[in-house]
Amino acid sequence: MANFTRPSFLLFFLSTFIIQLSANHAPIHLRFYFHEKYRGENATSNVVATLNRPNSTFGNIVVFDNPLRAGPESNSKLIGRAQGTAVRSSFSEESALAAITLLFSEGEFNGSSISLIGLVDGSGSADRTVVGGSGRFRMAKGYVLTKIVNSTAVSLVAQYDAYILS
Ligand SMILES: *[C@@H]1O[C@H](CO)[C@@H](O)[C@H](O)[C@H]1NC(C)=O
Ligand SMILES: *[C@@H]1O[C@H](CO)[C@@H](O)[C@H](O)[C@H]1NC(C)=O
Ligand SMILES: *[C@@H]1O[C@H](CO)[C@@H](O)[C@H](O)[C@H]1NC(C)=O
Ligand SMILES: *[C@@H]1O[C@H](CO)[C@@H](O)[C@H](O)[C@H]1NC(C)=O
Repeated sequence: MANFTRPSFLLFFLSTFIIQLSANHAPIHLRFYFHEKYRGENATSNVVATLNRPNSTFGNIVVFDNPLRAGPESNSKLIGRAQGTAVRSSFSEESALAAITLLFSEGEFNGSSISLIGLVDGSGSADRTVVGGSGRFRMAKGYVLTKIVNSTAVSLVAQYDAYILS
């Protein structure tokens, strides 16, 4: 009968466990670009409610279904959608609380999504939390760093750096 308390067995199980742990704790880094057109024909982002306070956007609610692309150029490869909502939630600055599903449609993450929540500041920069995911990203956690890399009077492009454990 095998003796499962033998040191070699313990060592084997322990080392397997450590390899598993370290594999699970190396976050995946994904970089992609969020393309938002917030004004004009075919806008992908719309203000759907406002308090109409003078000189204030506090309370504005925005809903969007923005393309995610591999690069910052408007014709670069479509890799998914960013579907969500943002609410202007600060009296003192133009920051907003955003809740977004990043839904991927290309490559090994096709059909998988990550759920993101957190504040985006007036400059469009953000350090937000991955609160979960679906498909390949079930049980995910992590964070996403965002900064604006191009903006015009009707559109913006933000770089997303996602660090995901799942
Ligand atoms: C809006 O979308 C339609 C249909 O895809 C397209 O024909 C039109 O050129 C678009 N307009 C702009 C300003 O992108
Ligand atoms: C709104 O801003 C304009 C221009 O800065 C200013 O003249 C006006 O007094 C402001 N109105 C209120 C209600 O603060
Ligand atoms: C992504 O998955 C969908 C649904 O399974 C499939 O129809 C589509 O062809 C896939 N796209 C790519 C680029 O693999
Ligand atoms: C910024 O975006 C506009 C609109 O898509 C585009 O015409 C312009 O070339 C972009 N600028 C840079 C530096 O990518």
